[in-house]
Amino acid sequence: MKRFLSGITPSGDGTLHIGNYLGAVKQFIKLSVNHDCYLMVADLHALTTIQNKEQLQKNTETLILNELTLLVGELGLSLPNITFFRQSDVPLHAELQTILNNVTPLGLIKRAHAYKDKLAKETALDDINMGLFNYPVLMAADILIYKSDLVPVGRDQKQHIEIARDIAERFNKIYGSGKRKAASGKTVFTLPEPYIPEDVAVVLGTDGKRKMSKSLGNIISIFEDEEIIKKQVMGTFTDPTRIHADDPGHIEGNMVFTYLDFFGVKGKVEELKGFYRRGQVSDMEVKNYLFESLLKYFTKARESYKELNSNPALVQKILQEGAEKARSFAEKTLTEVREAIGLTNKYSFFSYN
Ligand code: TYM
Repeated sequence: MKRFLSGITPSGDGTLHIGNYLGAVKQFIKLSVNHDCYLMVADLHALTTIQNKEQLQKNTETLILNELTLLVGELGLSLPNITFFRQSDVPLHAELQTILNNVTPLGLIKRAHAYKDKLAKETALDDINMGLFNYPVLMAADILIYKSDLVPVGRDQKQHIEIARDIAERFNKIYGSGKRKAASGKTVFTLPEPYIPEDVAVVLGTDGKRKMSKSLGNIISIFEDEEIIKKQVMGTFTDPTRIHADDPGHIEGNMVFTYLDFFGVKGKVEELKGFYRRGQVSDMEVKNYLFESLLKYFTKARESYKELNSNPALVQKILQEGAEKARSFAEKTLTEVREAIGLTNKYSFFSYN
């Protein structure tokens, strides 16, 4: 069975929106049928921006609850083939990052988007922390430690997967031959491939222009109160050329229909598209249908949310079991890595085989 690791950072307020769901969580659920899945809450990554103890704890718990709920809502409590854990519960990620730092060229990391975007905004160098700069190396460690064959992510993360691949290649090249190769005789790291389905690579926000993102205020939430979701749906970009409900309307670029393609009933959506093109249905009616479809689609998840929210011991158990399994895999990889690079406590006094 092929294996993958993917992660979500508890940034913003830790809640998930339909962009995260379509671009990430839904893909995890689909792939879990025939993949060994390691899913982590990337709390170490969140330290680049969140430096307030209460906020980090709250965000992490919120994300755990949001993500687990979506997974349990569709797959049931046994979560087949899924190992769900907190990144900081497996400190070996950080050890591997330290090791990988030494095979990572500075230029490679200087070309990374997150850092370059900060520079483009004319942020002073002293206001960029090393955690942010070095973020792609920690992400490479996350991915490589589980020998991931693929990494399901949205397009914004593609460059990070390519960097992880470059780092793995360099490590394998440096430590892949002669006496320094891994005990197994094989190279240590699997080269990961990004897994980015085209239709959800970038889910646009309700403004119809930019990637859906909490920080841009263009999201549709999953677990918020119904009134908030309704407000978000009612504010969604449709067709600016259409003034009256009986004007013929456009479907392309109309975000209500973009979302309906994912969450509505196919036959009904096609019928509504026809009505919309002919000016036979109002924006309000299609938005109401989107709102109902979203509530229906996430009914089970919203119920699981209440169930998990009232059972912290169960959540803790899932995380504990996940951390143990992840640690045991990561420990095996680190043993190979330490062996390959010469960090072993053998005391054989100079007979290095
Ligand atoms: P993060 O937390 O920003 O996003 C989590 C996942 O959701 C995807 N995503 C989207 N996909 C499509 N359309 C959107 N509007 C949208 N918004 C978010 C992201 O692409 C991502 O897949 N650095 C990562 C977390 C991470 C990670 C890893 C991922 C840490 N280590 C190792 C994979 C492997 C991040 O901050 O994602």
